[in-house]
Amino acid sequence: MVASRLVPHLTGLGTTIFAEMSSLATSTGAINLGQGFPDVDGPPSIARAAAEAVESGKGNQYPPGLGIPELRAAIAHHQRQYGLSYDVDSEVLVTAGATEGIAAAMLAFVDTDDEVLALEPFYDSYRATIAMARGRCVPVCLQAPDFRLDVERLRAAVSPKTKVILLNSPHNPTGMVLTPDELKAIADVAIEHDLIVVSDEVYEHLTFDAAHIPIATLPGMRERTVTLSSAGKSFSFTGWKVGWATGPADLIGDVRTTKQFLTFVSAGPFQYAVTHALTHEMDWVKELSTSLADRRDQLCDGLAALGMDVFRPAGTYFVTTDVGPLGFDDAMTFCRELPHRCGVVAVPCSVFYDTPGVDERRLVRWTFSKQESVLADALHRLTSLTSGTSAG
Ligand SMILES: Cc1ncc(COP(=O)(O)O)c(C=O)c1O
Repeated sequence: MVASRLVPHLTGLGTTIFAEMSSLATSTGAINLGQGFPDVDGPPSIARAAAEAVESGKGNQYPPGLGIPELRAAIAHHQRQYGLSYDVDSEVLVTAGATEGIAAAMLAFVDTDDEVLALEPFYDSYRATIAMARGRCVPVCLQAPDFRLDVERLRAAVSPKTKVILLNSPHNPTGMVLTPDELKAIADVAIEHDLIVVSDEVYEHLTFDAAHIPIATLPGMRERTVTLSSAGKSFSFTGWKVGWATGPADLIGDVRTTKQFLTFVSAGPFQYAVTHALTHEMDWVKELSTSLADRRDQLCDGLAALGMDVFRPAGTYFVTTDVGPLGFDDAMTFCRELPHRCGVVAVPCSVFYDTPGVDERRLVRWTFSKQESVLADALHRLTSLTSGTSAG
């Protein structure tokens, strides 16, 4: 076996759990409720716009570094629904998915030993990209079962080395949506300590109970916030990797500096298709969120009926459950066995924690981004968990 030559500050990142679980789903034929991607593509008109762009030679060669002007204009227009106004030429940047936006922002703002506060559990690329920047991820733990932010915990986590608050609402993996009071408290901390906020809002349109509030809309926040989003989640084209960053010109300029040496540019023809999407398909996005609310209820009710404790999410397409009441005290083992026992894949939430505690060890994340019939099949298969027979 060849010894790993990976640099020491990146050891421990390993292979993502999603790759492991998705490959388990393939090898066992299990239903994959682990990785969050829809099993139905977004609107045909958007797919056609992509095909037409390729065929008519739009975007087949390097597009402009900031992204094509049409898409930047559509993104600026999209942000105006929140009352946020951004200059198309200096305050909007197209990225290779929000993933690149996160990496470019961390590389731009985080220096060696700088600290980044992140709501724990967190999306796995946060920890990785902070490590790549040689910074330190400081988790601010959201407390199960309702995963609310403890503002005092956030305040206590700030140190002289804190540089960035990395926010995510609607929040993956918990589906928690920050309340106006919580956003205000975070804004107070950011302003008091002169911190940059990088706000990952990829699930901005996947909310069920209350409308999304970008933290950049709060007084004093526009000038210190880089907001990230992505067409993948809103329009169900996660493979296209078209994302964007909006913010004040100085911060967007910094993110552009790092972004240009990560990918320079990406997804030329898809940029035209996403322009079409933002201009013509926002009603479809509303329908998606209504349909996801129904599927949330279907999966949450089904998992609760099996005896799990369920945290009903206010956004995203993920639900977190505690499998302790079923007699399991280790979600990692539970998830590794689940495809073999029941033919279903889910993800243990411990992978979203730097500091797993006793409660977190029993948490499992499931996605309801799949069709109702698939969720029904998965729930049927899961009945064997409690009946002791195999339904898979
Ligand atoms: C919180 C969060 N941020 C960013 C991303 C990645 O977005 P993209 O596919 O646009 O890179 C995801 C994808 O799962 C996510 O859950």
